[in-house]
Amino acid sequence: MDFNLSEEHEAVQFAARDFAQNELLSGVIERDNEQKFDPALIRKMGELGFLSMMVRPEYGGGGMDTLSYVIAMEEISKIDASASVIMSVNNSLVCWGIQAYGTEEQKKKYLTQLSSGNMIGAFCLSEPEAGSDATSQHTTAEDKGDHYLLNGTKNWITNGNSSGVCLVMAQTHPEKAHKGINVLIVEKGAPGFIVGKKEDKMGIRASDTHTLMFSDVKVPKENRIGDDGFGFKFAMNVLNGGRIGIAAQALGIASGAFELSLKYAQERKTFGKPISDHQAIQFKLAEMATKIEAARLLVYKAARLKDQGKDYIQAAAMAKLYASDVAMWVTTEAVQVHGGYGYVKEFHVERLMRDAKITQIYEGTSEIQKLVIARELLK
Ligand code: CAA
Repeated sequence: MDFNLSEEHEAVQFAARDFAQNELLSGVIERDNEQKFDPALIRKMGELGFLSMMVRPEYGGGGMDTLSYVIAMEEISKIDASASVIMSVNNSLVCWGIQAYGTEEQKKKYLTQLSSGNMIGAFCLSEPEAGSDATSQHTTAEDKGDHYLLNGTKNWITNGNSSGVCLVMAQTHPEKAHKGINVLIVEKGAPGFIVGKKEDKMGIRASDTHTLMFSDVKVPKENRIGDDGFGFKFAMNVLNGGRIGIAAQALGIASGAFELSLKYAQERKTFGKPISDHQAIQFKLAEMATKIEAARLLVYKAARLKDQGKDYIQAAAMAKLYASDVAMWVTTEAVQVHGGYGYVKEFHVERLMRDAKITQIYEGTSEIQKLVIARELLK
């Protein structure tokens, strides 16, 4: 067991920290206020390799391991969790899914573009009546011989408007329940593909989250990933890895709030001394640092298991469950350490607190993570 990062991992950490500090920090409050993410920043993320970290070099990616990816996610999430969710969905749900299960043609056609930053992807599983209960898909993909006819509605889709390509889960054989679900690669602009309402969210406000509607959208058969009926298994397998990415996002949000609190506590004076001299604040800082370190160990372990080709379902669920609770707790304490300043936007911690909440919800709520962990324990 080695708790030190390799030189390569340190280089990734440095590059991500540099990008976050120099490119993301300056406009992060405005982007949150305006609910907009600058497409030029997405292209920059692509150019620097942050959108396709685990994609093999022959398809334009960085060919890196999952640990590199979580290290970069942590650094970028310290500053801008909207940027990191865009990055996370593209890396671990869309690119990883196509690379792991797509055909050679699908990889060549889509991964290169998804790596460059000229195009990003979206992952469409949730529906108005199928969030946690994901097997209950109402969107249908009717088999029409050489194509599928797609009909239905998907909800809360990250990158909903800004994506160029969507992975859509849809039911083809209802009599087979979840074993009848397919996953289709659907290109933006296909007739009948409608981008619906943009959500006005509590946090990660700069990332665009939309309802997507499909009305008789023709999807060629060659755009199905895997065998007929593989769609639900695809979604579950991809989400196992995605959950490590969201755990890393939660870790980054917590670390960012902690770093700001540590600095503020040494600058702010009350009763004639820095508040860091008060035991009430020292105890908060100590507990924050301890929980963050424990979360980091779980996140890195899950990434390591994935890189070693070992089973990581339980480790990923534990990492997400714990890191997201830590993010919520640490950011709330960070606002408390900052007092009145913590409650205003300029000091960043109120945004981090709002951003933290979603990590307990998306890519499987905390309750679903407990269910996954319990099933693994009992099987
Ligand atoms: N990994 C691999 N396979 C899994 C799995 C996992 N973690 N969890 C379940 N499965 C498999 C089961 O083995 C089973 O397969 P078989 O029939 O071949 O044995 C199949 O999936 C169905 O599982 P269950 O019978 O256990 O089904 P269930 O309905 O009781 O439970 C669930 C399924 C685990 C609750 C699942 O619906 C789930 O994970 N729900 C949460 C969905 C989710 O995470 N949504 C996130 C949306 S995407 C998002 O947020 C992206 C974004 O924009 C940021």
